[in-house]
Amino acid sequence: MGDMPEIDNTSIRNIVILTGAGISAESGLRTFRADDGLWEDHRVEDVATPAAFARDPELVQRFYDMRREQVMAAEPNAAHLALARLDRDWPGDLLIVTQNIDDLHERAGAGRVLHMHGEALSVWCLACDARHAWRDGLIDNPPCPACGGRALRPDIVWFGEMPYRMDEIYGALRGADLFVSIGTSGAVYPAAGFVQAAREFGARALELNLEPSQGSAMFHETRLGPASETVPQWVADLLGD
Ligand code: APR
Repeated sequence: MGDMPEIDNTSIRNIVILTGAGISAESGLRTFRADDGLWEDHRVEDVATPAAFARDPELVQRFYDMRREQVMAAEPNAAHLALARLDRDWPGDLLIVTQNIDDLHERAGAGRVLHMHGEALSVWCLACDARHAWRDGLIDNPPCPACGGRALRPDIVWFGEMPYRMDEIYGALRGADLFVSIGTSGAVYPAAGFVQAAREFGARALELNLEPSQGSAMFHETRLGPASETVPQWVADLLGD
């Protein structure tokens, strides 16, 4: 860390960007680890585990029905828009790996987006294994459009489950010259370990966050502030505006 930028933009071609709840905070979507340690007023283990879903499916469905509504009501902010512009204009490889289940990167116009923790607007049928885009509630246990069975669950990676597309993520990290972490507390693995992996593969590492994350010391450079300011500024630097 320091006042002078420590990353030389001229040597960067391939970029992996990891985003977390902090990038969507200014769109009105609450982060997970606010001071009270509660996740939207529920303890995490009461809603975001396969065991919780087995024990009390209605609570879990109601919780994700609420989150789906919140996601649909939210709008991308300046940080999502800046990353979409970078995705459009960056000539090298670029991958936005998001831990977020909202679709704000896509609605801002980004194409190279990977949802490692699943998506609020997708459901997964436990009977036939199909996934479907979904905007309604699941509380009434609607049938799967493919098989007619009534075993739809949120297409969300819960604690204890394997995040999606890890091979692709590590492939991208292996080729990255720059790893950028935006709006994530660094509390949840495996995402929290990407910075170390990226560095071992030879990348420089930049953190953009409101406050230093748990893994802050792992980054070559940290820029603190709200994502709506730090992300557009960084993108402008990178694109040489
Ligand atoms: N701009 C930038 N960063 C912000 C902003 C903002 N406006 N507001 C908050 N932050 C930062 C916080 O300081 C915090 O470090 O964003 C981070 C959010 O951290 P978490 O709430 O822990 O969210 P995240 O890191 O995405 O959580 C990871 O945990 O429960 C799970 O699966 C869920 O994907 C989620 C994972």
